Amino acid sequence: MKKTLNQMLIIFGASGDLTARKLIPAIYNLYKGQHLPENFVVLGVSRSNMGSEEFRSKVVLESEFLQKKIAKEEKDFVQKFADKLYYEDLGTDYDASYEKLAKRINQLDEEHGTDGNLIFYLSTPPSLYETIAKNLHDAGLTKEEKGWRRLIVEKPFGYDLKSAKALNDGLHYYFNEEQVYRIDHYLGKETVQNLLVTRFSNSIFEPLWNRRYIHHVEITNAETVGVEKRGGYYDKSGALRDMFQSHLMQIVSLIVMEPPISSDAEEIRDEKVKALKSLRIMKDEETIIKNTLRGQYVGSTIGGKKVKGYREEEGVNPESTTETFAALKFYVDNWRWKDVPFYVRTGKAMPTKVTEVVIHFKTPHHEVFKSQDVYKKDNKMIIRIQPDEGILLKFGVKVPGLGFHVEQANMDFYYSDLDSAQVMDAYERLLLDAMQGDTTLYARADEVEAAWRFVDPILECWENNPSVNTYGYAAGTWGPKNSDELIEDSFGWRNPGDLLTDESGFCILC
Ligand code: BG6
Repeated sequence: MKKTLNQMLIIFGASGDLTARKLIPAIYNLYKGQHLPENFVVLGVSRSNMGSEEFRSKVVLESEFLQKKIAKEEKDFVQKFADKLYYEDLGTDYDASYEKLAKRINQLDEEHGTDGNLIFYLSTPPSLYETIAKNLHDAGLTKEEKGWRRLIVEKPFGYDLKSAKALNDGLHYYFNEEQVYRIDHYLGKETVQNLLVTRFSNSIFEPLWNRRYIHHVEITNAETVGVEKRGGYYDKSGALRDMFQSHLMQIVSLIVMEPPISSDAEEIRDEKVKALKSLRIMKDEETIIKNTLRGQYVGSTIGGKKVKGYREEEGVNPESTTETFAALKFYVDNWRWKDVPFYVRTGKAMPTKVTEVVIHFKTPHHEVFKSQDVYKKDNKMIIRIQPDEGILLKFGVKVPGLGFHVEQANMDFYYSDLDSAQVMDAYERLLLDAMQGDTTLYARADEVEAAWRFVDPILECWENNPSVNTYGYAAGTWGPKNSDELIEDSFGWRNPGDLLTDESGFCILC
């Protein structure tokens, strides 16, 4: 077990939604699970005029996000946790003098014995990341004279390759790469990490994990929600930037990568970078238009209820062409994956919430039971990232009785079946890793840049041709009809027809 040293977590943007919704509940769970060091404090920093007491009420004592997780008997415990939280008002802006902040940090460090170890968590608008890093430096807060310094940076990391590079350069001016933790919360998901374990701890899958046996790879990420209250941000981003460049490319890299030499963070990240660099970049518009497609949800009625279209959402330009759905077909230029198509789609306002990877195996080289429909369905391995986390293998078995009738059977594993299963929330795992100095599940500078390098030409082509390959789809459906054509040569998407949902609308692994 790695040791978590005494430390202070300083959250910039502490009055924002992420702090109350994700960060504080994650830290609370770490506290409850006794994962925090003996001496630990959180200092929330932002521009809202409030004191520590008000901050504690907002994010702990009266927080809707935390309170629903807390049992009655934990009330005293919660107060003890709240006492570990402090707040510093930066005044009018993040560019103000940080002398006062430095004093407060030093004073808390002395009072609580956090040994000068500081993690700065940037949960502000990205345009402030570099400014904050510079101000921390100017106030002497980046010096590792007493204790270490780490910087966690929220997504989005850049808007395109150029801005991501500029941000990397800007941060590297004040922090070494080893000190920078670029967060991608998908890497904190148990099932995403399990991609590594399933592939590299079993000898049964790895020999099949290549062009000889795999026909194509399909990845779906669907959300039922629209853009909710984030219209202003989303309208400048779109599905390709918001989901694909970060979360989905992380999943792609874990599927594509070669076995690392060891489980060491740098060895794993080296292989992921190599994987991302081997994705075939679509350079010309013709290729991009042929292999990509986007959509935007329009108003519809779901279960008798009227649902808004994207352009009617708060903060969205009523004439916006921003995509809320994106589908891509691409190839990987290396020995293992030559000629194996990857199909990836992501969308908001879809019929169910699901993220899954489907590995479609090839039909046998010689089809003995030729007349059987089962070949069309092919052998599949479905890796369910969320919800209903697990793995399902689909293969043909003989139907009892005369002849050789083949039917598809399922062999499955669900995380929920593990007695000891205590799936940590993604933020819990990632925060703990950063506290322990483990960068394995954080994106490295070259990794983020490699992902942008792949996405950039598509963004540029889409921007130059706003109406080409752009379709509307009714909210609550599986995206534009035309997205079926993209995957036509590979039996179609694993779509609503073969998925079941429970009463909450979540898609059941089947
Ligand atoms: C965020 C995106 O990074 O991930 C959101 O900005 C998206 O638009 C969210 O809804 C999805 O996360 P999850 O864990 O619910 O799949």
